[in-house]
Amino acid sequence: MLSAGRPLELLAARAYCWQYACGVPGKKNSLFALFCFFFLTSCLSSPAARTLASVLGKSKGPSLPPSFVLRGVAEYGATQQIQVDYEETVKKAKEAWKVWADIPAPKRGEIVRQIGDALRQKIKVLGSLVSLEMGKIFVEGVGEVQEYVDVCDYAVGLSRMIGGPILPSERPGHALIEQWNPVGLVGVITAFNFPVAVYGWNSAIAMICGNACLWKGAPTTSLVSVAVTRIIAKVLEDNKLPGAICSLVCGGADIGTAMARDERMDLLSFTGSTKVGKQVALMVQERFGRSLLELGGNNAIIVFEDADLNLVIPSALFASVGTAGQRCTTARRLFLHESIHDEVVAKLAKAYAQVRIGDPWDSDTLYGPLHTKEAVKMFLDAVEQAKQQGGSVVCGGKVINRPGNYVEPTIVTGLPHNAPIVHTETFAPILYVLKFKSHVTCMQLSQCFRKPKGSDCGIVNVNIPTSGAEIGGAFGGEKHTGGGRESGSDSWKLYMRRSTCTINYSKDLPLAQGIKFQ
Ligand code: UN1
Repeated sequence: MLSAGRPLELLAARAYCWQYACGVPGKKNSLFALFCFFFLTSCLSSPAARTLASVLGKSKGPSLPPSFVLRGVAEYGATQQIQVDYEETVKKAKEAWKVWADIPAPKRGEIVRQIGDALRQKIKVLGSLVSLEMGKIFVEGVGEVQEYVDVCDYAVGLSRMIGGPILPSERPGHALIEQWNPVGLVGVITAFNFPVAVYGWNSAIAMICGNACLWKGAPTTSLVSVAVTRIIAKVLEDNKLPGAICSLVCGGADIGTAMARDERMDLLSFTGSTKVGKQVALMVQERFGRSLLELGGNNAIIVFEDADLNLVIPSALFASVGTAGQRCTTARRLFLHESIHDEVVAKLAKAYAQVRIGDPWDSDTLYGPLHTKEAVKMFLDAVEQAKQQGGSVVCGGKVINRPGNYVEPTIVTGLPHNAPIVHTETFAPILYVLKFKSHVTCMQLSQCFRKPKGSDCGIVNVNIPTSGAEIGGAFGGEKHTGGGRESGSDSWKLYMRRSTCTINYSKDLPLAQGIKFQ
């Protein structure tokens, strides 16, 4: 059990968690993780000691941080205390919402602008911490903090633009108005693979809409969650606002379930697997709550015979191997026209062989470890199934003999498109290459997306990789991806409720549809 008097144990536990998770050894990295964490938390105005006590939920200082419930892996047994802490955190967040919702939207935007600036100042150190705790390469760690910064900028503009239309009423002397109101408290459950960006998309937009947030990150990326929350808390407190506007709970499925079942969670945004997402959706639906789901994906790239292979090879490489295949946008299926199949496979296998595998924190590395040992097992299992179902491993397929959860980026050919494994999302770097015959060209297909029926995919890209979406567009997918939309465009509507207001300014009471009721 961790306690307030022994903060170093907390940090050591977290360093252990990180080592446990992506398994890359090295005192240097663990110590640096601790340094990053110290820097991100204790460089704030609060004295370091109080900050650490705050992290442990024991702060007595005047500028209270957001409510934290931080649980190390050793603590999961302490169910009762977790529930008590959870209750307290939700209550504080609900109270904080009352303050936040009364602030004019452009002023809320100004606070989000300051959060973006605070993140900008710490982008490298926070990116390092992401890299160390999650296992993705440093540039990608920095890249996802950049996504948070970008969505803050987006949200600032949005805070001056959100409005409802005034619609023509059919009744004389009446006004028909749509008003958008905040939902209240937005629960945000994020996954290990994007421990910063996905919270950023949700919180920046939710905040300018006038909501408070309660965040639960992945249990294996708690250092990042605490560091980000501390950065936000500092901005809020500097503006004399309650830190609990952006509250944090750290825990596992117990806390996630509590959030899903909790009526006080006015919206629950969940990012994670399709399997867990379905359970979350059902729990939320059972109470007629609102959920926003961003779940698994089994993304495909289709390459026609007239495609420019100078774009295809690097696109497929980044999309399938980037983040070691652990993005919801990772390309898992590569459909190749039969006329170019062999050439593309040969070129791609060559490109795979050149991927620099190493310590994710090393600037030269392009490909790091998987996040957990379980992921390695899933990888091996999927490769085995692919072989059993008739696939040939062109490259990769094995665990790499070095400390850490490293597996070889893998290409499998020869499977039919309807092989069960091809229809299964394995969160690992396995690309199934499938051959097809067709007379359709890229140009014809890309035009299809703009025709009346369009595509049934949430994200449609032409001549670029499947992964690496910009924040400006609405982000999300259809069917088993959950149907939610986060980040840009009009995703803000999901974080608000709409009142259709009909106001009678006249002295008469005409009814709609010409009904006379007298
Ligand atoms: C995710 O994997 O959950 O488009 C999010 C991308 C990133 C976000 C991925 N901007 O790949």
